[in-house]
Amino acid sequence: MTRFVDEKDIAILRVIDGLRTAFEWVPIEKIVEKLPYKDFEVKRRIKELDKMELVRYRYVSHYNSFAAMLTEKGFDTLALWDFKKHDVIEKVGTEIGVGKESVIIGCVSPKGEWVVVKFHRYWAKEFRNIRKSLAYASIIVRGKELNLEDSRIDIPRAKAQVEMNALEKLHKIGINVPEPLGINRHAIAMKMLTRNGGIPAPQLVRVKLTDPVTAYETIIEDYIKMVDKGDVIHGDFNEYNVIITENETPYYIDFPQAVPKSYPEAKFLIRRDLNKISHYFQLKYRLKTKDVEKILKDLMEK
Ligand SMILES: Nc1ncnc2c1ncn2[C@@H]1O[C@H](COP(=O)(O)OP(=O)(O)OP(=O)(O)O)[C@@H](O)[C@H]1O
Ligand SMILES: [Mg+2]
Repeated sequence: MTRFVDEKDIAILRVIDGLRTAFEWVPIEKIVEKLPYKDFEVKRRIKELDKMELVRYRYVSHYNSFAAMLTEKGFDTLALWDFKKHDVIEKVGTEIGVGKESVIIGCVSPKGEWVVVKFHRYWAKEFRNIRKSLAYASIIVRGKELNLEDSRIDIPRAKAQVEMNALEKLHKIGINVPEPLGINRHAIAMKMLTRNGGIPAPQLVRVKLTDPVTAYETIIEDYIKMVDKGDVIHGDFNEYNVIITENETPYYIDFPQAVPKSYPEAKFLIRRDLNKISHYFQLKYRLKTKDVEKILKDLMEK
């Protein structure tokens, strides 16, 4: 069944979201209680929202009643609705990328500019890798620890907040990152990096550079500035997270695992980031690798 959601559906989704911390499955009576609509209408709509996979709705024996829970798609819908309400986006286009860690869709702003919305996901395997960095950044950025009991929801939200914080800091000091436009729940909106307007610019791994020497130089200089002036250590710096825009200008994306210099394993991460990108240029373009240890030493002494 397909239909569009309207204000009433959104009001229902919001109530379920609001009661989420009190109930894993929110009993239907509690939902009805908080809404100005007739009982039968709320139930009919929830059944439809269930068919649209925005909620799950089922009988829960210990409440002796039906109860609902938001799905990932339900949270996505709330975030998109709010981005539209706040004029961050006007129209929703196609999916650009779907991975286990995130889903990326192309949108258009009210001014007609291309925007991407990135929905963060919880994925256990990734979380094992970024658990330490995310826990650390989370306290600095959000002032609170990760809520592991509520990990399905809290972890994507923490990732979005950490990524947004890094984009804001770096954009402010003039590093080439997508301009951040807004954050809502587990979703962030940013300008789309394009080539020929409307087509997302490719990842470094997908292009054959005409001037790899300059690109490698620029990328290393930008990385040093990110750490030194922005206090942002990317932590997953590689040929997939560098985007090549017009005139072979590199841009940097994908910051949910970023940490500040004060992170205990900062040195390890900087070394790994610089080595990864250097190996790529060495393998693909046969460039001489820069002295990573020297860059690291200079950065740590600053
Ligand atoms: N602002 C942007 N402009 C253009 N394309 C983008 C933008 N942000 C992300 N993308 C595209 O979406 C892909 C995935 O984005 P990102 O690296 O941030 O997410 P991810 O969770 O690491 O996903 P993946 O696991 O696929 O790398 C990027 O490699 C890029 O091609
Ligand atoms: Mg990526």
